[in-house]
Amino acid sequence: MEIKVAGKLLKKNRNSCLIVAILSNGTLTETAKSLDKASGGYLKKLHKRGDLSGSRGQCRFVYDLEGADFERILVIGTGSDKTLSVSHYQQLLRTAFRSVRSTSAATAVSALGEVAVDAASSVIGGNEQAMELWKVQQQALAAEETGYRFAGHDKLGSATTAKKTSKKTKSGNDSDKPSKLRSAVIRLGSDGNKRTAGKHTLAGQAVGKGLHMAKDLGNLAPNICTPSYLASEARALARQSDKLKVSVLGEKQMEKLGMGAFLAVSAGSREEAKLIIMEYNGGPKSQRPVVLVGKGITFDTGGISIKPSATMDEMKFDMCGAASVFGALAATLAMDLKRNVVFAVAAAENMPDGAATRPGDVVTTMSGPSVEILNTDAEGRLVLCDTLTYVKKFKPQAVIDVATLTGACVVALGGIATGLMSNSQSLADDLLEAGQISGDRAWQLPLWDEYKPMLDSNFADLANIGGRQAGAITAGVFLKSFAEEFDWAHLDIAGTGWKSGGSKGATGRPVGLLMQYLMSA
Ligand code: BES
Ligand code: MN
Ligand code: ZN
Repeated sequence: MEIKVAGKLLKKNRNSCLIVAILSNGTLTETAKSLDKASGGYLKKLHKRGDLSGSRGQCRFVYDLEGADFERILVIGTGSDKTLSVSHYQQLLRTAFRSVRSTSAATAVSALGEVAVDAASSVIGGNEQAMELWKVQQQALAAEETGYRFAGHDKLGSATTAKKTSKKTKSGNDSDKPSKLRSAVIRLGSDGNKRTAGKHTLAGQAVGKGLHMAKDLGNLAPNICTPSYLASEARALARQSDKLKVSVLGEKQMEKLGMGAFLAVSAGSREEAKLIIMEYNGGPKSQRPVVLVGKGITFDTGGISIKPSATMDEMKFDMCGAASVFGALAATLAMDLKRNVVFAVAAAENMPDGAATRPGDVVTTMSGPSVEILNTDAEGRLVLCDTLTYVKKFKPQAVIDVATLTGACVVALGGIATGLMSNSQSLADDLLEAGQISGDRAWQLPLWDEYKPMLDSNFADLANIGGRQAGAITAGVFLKSFAEEFDWAHLDIAGTGWKSGGSKGATGRPVGLLMQYLMSA
């Protein structure tokens, strides 16, 4: 999709749809006001009549309005609040673009930058200009993101599996049919911002593309999306850019490095574990990289500590952390980010088998300490701890891991906030702020030393589980002990990485948060 900004609107707009807004008290945004004037008060009349209530999210199309240069106009309601919160504004944008996508319009022209967003979101910049640019980015993101359709298995699968998908495949699609929308134009209040606005458009669109990638990988069936599949995906990305170098460690190499924890997870699987390293060099040689680490358990049965079978299919989403790291890489490539980033994916499959790890097994981690595996279902921390040790060699400025790590985090924060834990408060603050600006929010949990004894083992340096209480935190405390030599943060996306039920599908989170962080790091 082509997305551009425009100060003035064109006189001739073939097959396009203009998007404007109305409050529930009848107040029209600027562009809506001028349409109303040109049409002799038609929009006001519709409001008085009750056909255009302005309630939040209500979409009304007006066709062939007198005096308008557009054949279609979408008037969307913003509700009764004069200023919208970040999340309500984002919802509004998504609803609007989805609605336009249900028409046969080829171009959407958005004047939704005129909708006021809460000034309390002072993190956005605190001034008018920063706010306008933020809105431009958000509009570009919504335009791109709402075009998501699951790529499906027919295109991506091997010859022997999933040759065809049914036409009914939904998997988190935003609409049932592909839309005809080919371009979006974002209206700017002033021409002055035009140049910078172009950058923000690119950034928003890049994040949208990253979300698509993260959702596609997350949604793929676990018989297709294996560790080897993820490795080949990485190699395919490397072919697209000379700023990207990819290397993949297999189990032999992991053995040589002493990654006993990582290997314990895949011991019961016929799929070979892979540690995928993607080095992106967009900054000066001397710049220390930010390292993103994704948990890539392509299917988590629980291993010998097997999970109940109800909804076990959703454990294909246990690689959503890895998917978001791939998504962040795709966004990084799309916006040609000028900084060094290492994207690392710890990929394995957790299966029960004669060769599988047993509860009670003791393994040695790459960094030295031994771990008593009391529950083979606490496998994410096992692949991550050795990966954290491995990425030390990049002399990172900061390391951020992303993982669908604990059911306890889902209980604590639900699907709204990602769990954030860190050994550096300034890194935590940066990530919290990136979450607020991007609308992809996180909430911090403590990693105090008082939690440490919960991981005591009678037979090894550390147990891999900490009992029933504070499950998200004890997982974080476990990881923290392998991240002593750098600033590190852990994002538990067990609740935010995918949705269950009727709208089952990967969300792509936290690509938005990660990109916001990387753009300012
Ligand atoms: N992948 C799961 C976490 C998970 C569970 C995410 C449910 C989303 C929904 C993880 O590997 C796991 O099984 N964690 C265990 C840890 C426990 C054994 C200490 C959990 O949370 O139950
Ligand atoms: Mn598990
Ligand atoms: Zn898991």
